[in-house]
Amino acid sequence: MGCMKTFVVGNWKMNLTVGESSLFLQKLQKKIKPAKNLEVVVAPSAIALQTLSLQLERNKSKIKLAAQNFHYRDYGAFTGEISVSQLHGIIKYAIVGHSERRHIFGETNREVKMKVAAAIRNNIRPIICIGETEGERASGETADVIRDQLLSSLSEIDVEDFKKVIIAYEPVWAISGGKSSRAAAPDEVIDVIRLIHTTLADTYGKEIEENIPVLYGGSVNADNAGAYLTMKGVNGLLIGGASLMSEPFCDIVETAKRVIA
Ligand code: 13P
Repeated sequence: MGCMKTFVVGNWKMNLTVGESSLFLQKLQKKIKPAKNLEVVVAPSAIALQTLSLQLERNKSKIKLAAQNFHYRDYGAFTGEISVSQLHGIIKYAIVGHSERRHIFGETNREVKMKVAAAIRNNIRPIICIGETEGERASGETADVIRDQLLSSLSEIDVEDFKKVIIAYEPVWAISGGKSSRAAAPDEVIDVIRLIHTTLADTYGKEIEENIPVLYGGSVNADNAGAYLTMKGVNGLLIGGASLMSEPFCDIVETAKRVIA
């Protein structure tokens, strides 16, 4: 796979005030030393993005920012929404189609594909989240759900833009905070990671597939990060709860450095 980067992405979800976000980022900036082929990204609340962007710029930090969500139109009468074009210059990445957006806010595959197209149009790399629910896994629908979410999310973009795309596999049942959530065993993850790669290769060709990073997310912590990161076809992690504390998050970054060394 050449020199594909490994990604450690912290999704802070709806946590931390602007002040707390800034202090927390300051801690991460002190503790995390940049490494070749490693990209550390944090996704704070939208309200903190500009402050944190200035902070990172001032300190010439290598840590990058991601939005957690945005609207798929660039501007217009959409009260309360933020467009990805408004975030241009502030973020490098944007999470799209997170399962909380899909399942709590009713975001559809159609909206996800329009957001992916909007991100690409604005030169922001989308981190496209896909994943089956517990019920879908139990009834043997995982492969169909994954293929459907994956291919529909990419259906509006041009071939030359595939190099901007990042996929994150997050089984909904493994995301902390759910009713009966639990960390997935690596052998529950490996088949889906393989399916994502083969679907991409079969549909768009091996060359495109090889350049699309596939991340894993769902109850990732400092103890299990290494097991996911060393799985074939996993190019990084998307972390919720453990990204809100500096020690586990920095430990995970260190693990990633060891894995790619
Ligand atoms: P947890 O790591 O808290 O399970 O969250 C995963 C997630 O949803 C990251 O986007």
